Amino acid sequence: MANHANNRPRLIVGNWKMNGSLAANAALLDALAQAPAAGCARVVCPPFPYLAQAATLLAGSEVALGAQNCGHAAAGAYTGEVAAPMLAELGCRYVIVGHSERRAMFGDDDARVAAKTALAFEHGLTPILCVGETLAQYEAGQATAVIDGQLDAVLGTLDAGRIDRLVIAYEPIWAIGTGRSASAEQVDAALERIAAAVARHAASARPQLLYGGSVTAATAQWLAPLARVDGVLVGGASLQAEAFLAIEQAFAAAGQTARG
Ligand code: PGA
Repeated sequence: MANHANNRPRLIVGNWKMNGSLAANAALLDALAQAPAAGCARVVCPPFPYLAQAATLLAGSEVALGAQNCGHAAAGAYTGEVAAPMLAELGCRYVIVGHSERRAMFGDDDARVAAKTALAFEHGLTPILCVGETLAQYEAGQATAVIDGQLDAVLGTLDAGRIDRLVIAYEPIWAIGTGRSASAEQVDAALERIAAAVARHAASARPQLLYGGSVTAATAQWLAPLARVDGVLVGGASLQAEAFLAIEQAFAAAGQTARG
């Protein structure tokens, strides 16, 4: 029944944002590294300064490492920025690009997001491209146009092979950190439109499609059975091992049911 992208394991990604400390990270990472594999791909994205700590603590575990952002150039005079090849060298396999907080607060426009996506691929990282509309855009009926614009700016720069390997996270801005998740119907409809936008660029590509925005163990119960949802991008709930693992468990259980 479920048609998850190319039968890749569903992705449970934790975006820690600007949270953590050496001590808190160690406890969280140890719990995640020791939890038995549930058949999903488990990814954590700590702040830059903690990537080396996380790589050490996750070594030999099933948990993959990601970063929350990368620079739009591979090296050079960009004070305060961190480049994709540095992330790869530190053991990252994923990098989030175009998160709405970066777009809103740090000047990440579509061109910059496209440059970051290309650099991620060039350095062996899987980009997790975030798209999503504001509440005002949603209420004005502009969500599809906004998301299509964000997608076209990036997908138009990628070949079909890269589009297939991309991860796209639909994160309605009104659902991020608000406790107000999108409904099952809204998530399904948005992911359907995203798949259609992808098909206009590369008909055979099947990038993994995630939902993000106030995902908890409770919302995961109804998100996980949705056939179009290949996983979730989790903010607040990813800071507690128990909550993050419960989300993964919901997806693991639904995946087994759906695929027999
Ligand atoms: P949230 O954040 O789960 O805390 O809403 C999601 C995100 O911004 O990726």
